Amino acid sequence: MSIEIDVLNANASWPVAEPLLDAVWPRHVVEQLSWGHVKWADADLRVLIDAPDDTGLACHAGVYFRTATWDGRKVEIGGIGGVATRADCRGRGYATLALNAAISTLRHHEAVRFALLFCEPNNEAFYQARGWHRFSGEVYAEQPQGRVRFDAMAPFIFDFTRAPRDGVIDLCGLPW
Ligand SMILES: CC(C)(COP(=O)(O)OP(=O)(O)OC[C@H]1O[C@@H](n2cnc3c(N)ncnc32)[C@H](O)[C@@H]1OP(=O)(O)O)[C@@H](O)C(=O)NCCC(=O)NCCS
Repeated sequence: MSIEIDVLNANASWPVAEPLLDAVWPRHVVEQLSWGHVKWADADLRVLIDAPDDTGLACHAGVYFRTATWDGRKVEIGGIGGVATRADCRGRGYATLALNAAISTLRHHEAVRFALLFCEPNNEAFYQARGWHRFSGEVYAEQPQGRVRFDAMAPFIFDFTRAPRDGVIDLCGLPW
């Protein structure tokens, strides 16, 4: 059985992604979470994995490109967000495949120095087991009320040519 992995324009593929993301993060559930009122950036690309049994989308990861700053210096970074596998498709390696495809996509852009994602405490071990490192510095991001310290979730880094572990990262825009 072959697995199809697509990397598509985020806006064009939103109708495909939306039902899965709504199922994994229903609005009424998200509203109760600590990050429920965060305004998120729109993805630039989406990694989409279809279930091999033709039951539709099984896994999603959003991909982001951003000119940010690290300790005051401009740096091109890649983002990954909205990593989600349909409940009945978990444990088959789909999220791992989607993460790898997202990282490969970001690596194709030579200017990108590292990738960054945010995750909840219960998923930290998942990302650490896949080579992601905790960033222990401060992260700033834009929100409707202005620039804020973003600590709703923990930042994790995947090293390319830079390996930031502390300092100040300013996303210079909305978080993902
Ligand atoms: C986290 C999530 C994306 C994993 O998707 P998945 O397709 O089942 O992941 P994979 O099949 O690639 O990997 C599963 C492996 O990770 C492990 N794993 C899954 N969730 C984990 C967690 N929270 N902490 C540690 N390990 C975890 C599984 O035990 C399994 O291990 P194994 O390969 O040794 O058997 C999925 O559970 C999900 O969609 N959760 C809800 C949304 C969410 O929290 N997304 C993350 C946003 S930061």
